[in-house]
Amino acid sequence: MRHFTSVNDLGDLKAAVKEALEIKKNRYAWQELGRNRTALLIFFNNSLRTRLSTQKAAMNLGMNVIVLDVNQGAWKLETERGVVMDGDKSEHLLEAIPVMGCYCDVIGVRSFARFESKEDDYNEKILNQFIQYSGKPVFSMEAATRHPLQSFADLITIEEYKKKDRPKVVMSWAPHPKALPQAVPNSFAEMMNATDYEFVITHPEGYELDPRFVGRAKVEYDQRKALEGADFVYAKNWAAYRDPHYGQIICQDRSWTIDTEHMSWTDNAYFMHCLPVRRNMIVTDDVIESPQSIVIPEAANREISAQTVLKRILESL
Ligand code: CP
Repeated sequence: MRHFTSVNDLGDLKAAVKEALEIKKNRYAWQELGRNRTALLIFFNNSLRTRLSTQKAAMNLGMNVIVLDVNQGAWKLETERGVVMDGDKSEHLLEAIPVMGCYCDVIGVRSFARFESKEDDYNEKILNQFIQYSGKPVFSMEAATRHPLQSFADLITIEEYKKKDRPKVVMSWAPHPKALPQAVPNSFAEMMNATDYEFVITHPEGYELDPRFVGRAKVEYDQRKALEGADFVYAKNWAAYRDPHYGQIICQDRSWTIDTEHMSWTDNAYFMHCLPVRRNMIVTDDVIESPQSIVIPEAANREISAQTVLKRILESL
């Protein structure tokens, strides 16, 4: 694997999960693979899980790790060509990227949707410039439209907890006070579409995702109907995708918050969320603290998804 930007880069998913579970059993078995190799992790946006789990994954493989928070301590970066740089931005991304590439063997990038231009976001303008100009393998640590390390960890978690071959997985929109990107729901949908699970997406009207990510999923606007018989409930907020409301909050209906009543409609489903989560907006305290909540094992699997991806990139060098 040269670059990792979507589920498609994993190839055979069953083989990828098998490899991930082997790594989980013996995560220090590949220490020689990363010896004298450096991972540079670049964050344009905040992170807890991705930052820690990816560093840990790289260290498990014997790598050195450098972490750069672009907005804290680095020069402020201009990202547009043609701009007269007479403002507060001291360096252009087009110099910064190849310079960063000089100091590492692999680059991880976190760069969220900015909601300034749907075209720029959905063309993955920042991530693709790293791929084009760094000269190094690049992996996404959540880009504008996808968060594949998260959805790979989600898949590993479902495979570990599922009680039937073909579980019913429901991704439910839930309210949130800020406009959030579609990267996590897009990637989760892309991943679920690549399995043979029964997959349902439920959200209020107006929150339709890009049809390229919805794929074969059943879209059910009645949340109760969607949740009936579910084996896994994956809660997530996202802002509107469709024009003219791209990147906007169009409804904050608190009846969509996942509480014990919502969970009672399911088949004793497991509750999942990528975290961080706003309690009592997305999910109630009772549900997230219940034995059916698997948000912590799901987060723990971020180390395993990152290690599997880094291992494959190292093997390709
Ligand atoms: N789920 C996830 O990516 O968490 P962070 O934003 O804390 O990295």
